[in-house]
Amino acid sequence: MFYEGKAKKLYSTADPDLVIAYFKDDATAFNGKKKDTIEDKGVMNNRMSELFFTLLEKNGVKTHFVRRLNDREMLCKRLQIIPVETVVRNIVAGSMAKRLGREEGEPLPHPIVEYYYKSDALDDPLIIGEHAIAFGWATAAELKQVDEMALKVNSILKRFLDERGVILVDFKLEFGRYQGEVILGDEICPDTCRFWDKATRQKLDKDRFRRDLGGVEEAYHEMLRRVEI
Ligand code: TMP
Repeated sequence: MFYEGKAKKLYSTADPDLVIAYFKDDATAFNGKKKDTIEDKGVMNNRMSELFFTLLEKNGVKTHFVRRLNDREMLCKRLQIIPVETVVRNIVAGSMAKRLGREEGEPLPHPIVEYYYKSDALDDPLIIGEHAIAFGWATAAELKQVDEMALKVNSILKRFLDERGVILVDFKLEFGRYQGEVILGDEICPDTCRFWDKATRQKLDKDRFRRDLGGVEEAYHEMLRRVEI
């Protein structure tokens, strides 16, 4: 093991270009201040990430996904991670609602891309692209690719989920460098996205844990059921 994050552990392999991501059941919120476990979360997030990465690859988005090895482990390309979290929003929710005093659920006229500096010590602050360029976290060319890829991921996932009765409210992506290219890394799952049921607007994501709404495991299972068909 060479890295342990809040939700995953990363292991080296004999091939220096490949790593194994192990998905834990640990759940945190508010930069680790709230902690618990969600039964089988690791299994569900591993499988859901596999489904989403496969869908994205099929649609021309390059990702770090190689293959799922077992219930909790995924073989991935080893990326040099860009320390910027990219959030795409279709509907106002979460920190955007709070920061700007808007009602959660307000539709945005077009998808908005935001960047956050990946720093636990600073609580992942919202930044503008110029900060990332000025401090050497990414080049202007890399950010342009990140933007284009993030919006493409949004179009693909939004449509796929809409067909399954799910509204893609917002989500977070991480990108990294691999053999001179910017590719998509990390995971795509209910930890990193907001999913609302189209008919009832019921939350089917980690907000159930963050906000103590109950039915956390059930929501993850329901999302997996929707995307597996
Ligand atoms: P936010 O509204 O709290 O900024 O979250 C935006 C999206 O990013 C939401 O879909 C959840 C996801 N997210 C993460 O993946 N990791 C995080 O640490 C946070 C705060 C949000």
